[in-house]
Amino acid sequence: MKKLSIVDIANHLNVSKTTVSFILNGRAQEKRIGKELVERVQKFVDEVGYKPNSLAKSLRTGKSNTIGLMVEDISNPFFSAIARLIEDRAYKNGYKIIYCSTDNDTLKTKELINMFRDRHVDGYIIAPPEGIEDDINSLLKQGMPVVLFDRHLPNVSTDCVEIDNLFSTYNATKHLIQQGYKNIAFITFASGQTQMQARLQGYRNALSDSGYKPAVLEIVFNQNEDLILAPIANFLKKNKKLDAVFFGTNHVGTCGLKVINNLGIKVPSDLALVSFDDYDVFKLFSPPVTAIAQPIEAIADNVITVLLNKLNTSSRHISSQSIILKTDFNIRASSKHR
Ligand code: RIB
Repeated sequence: MKKLSIVDIANHLNVSKTTVSFILNGRAQEKRIGKELVERVQKFVDEVGYKPNSLAKSLRTGKSNTIGLMVEDISNPFFSAIARLIEDRAYKNGYKIIYCSTDNDTLKTKELINMFRDRHVDGYIIAPPEGIEDDINSLLKQGMPVVLFDRHLPNVSTDCVEIDNLFSTYNATKHLIQQGYKNIAFITFASGQTQMQARLQGYRNALSDSGYKPAVLEIVFNQNEDLILAPIANFLKKNKKLDAVFFGTNHVGTCGLKVINNLGIKVPSDLALVSFDDYDVFKLFSPPVTAIAQPIEAIADNVITVLLNKLNTSSRHISSQSIILKTDFNIRASSKHR
């Protein structure tokens, strides 16, 4: 059966399309439409099971009450925890979230932005891969609110919510040095993303303050975990003089613990450990792993607050904010003094 439109309903009841639209959009009282007419329209609509066409509505009103959320990988506990908190806050404010994973793939991200355009999302929340500056700048030029998080893009001036990556790794590396460790490696994913570069720089700065030599392993990310475990194992076997290792993300840290277990390395007597991102796996490891904890709730809260503010304020000229949040440094037995 053909889907009924507002025009069909109006013609059938011999009422104006505008009146039907006001009644179906809950504006009958505001427009002083009589109770009898409201009930007649509502009764017919219930009988025929009319469902408003959300796309038609968004084309008419220019709003779809949906937000496009683009994270690196929704199955990663860091991103899924943040996505869930954003979804709850958005829903309470009348918005639904459509999310997807970019896999840090520039082309895939461009296609996903086009998908969101077709769906007429009202705003974007993006943890951006490299190479999509032009796409984001064209959204901004159309007056579309875009909030970046976890990393920012040079040459894109829009709202961004991040953590102080450089200080976090500088401080954690200093901690290892103060505990007496001198041959400290940094194992991370090879990435030009701003947060990954800042973490590496913080580690290098702390070592150079003490005149210690850096030892860095940058792994090309791969969905096949064996291709992450192998380079870590080779690196640890080759660098026998290491007395501490710093992992640059939760994913690298988790892989690192598997390798350390497989190689029978004792922590901290053979090798002290620190990892970015604090997760149960680091708390449950024996001995528990010292970790930098990101403020997940505060990241989500700031991201959605900034976006809702833009969506609910008609003036398009609210200046962009760059919000930098602090991390917690949870010191545990894996990095205690030599
Ligand atoms: O895999 C999640 C990690 O990478 C977190 O450290 C987050 O900041 C992202 O950059």
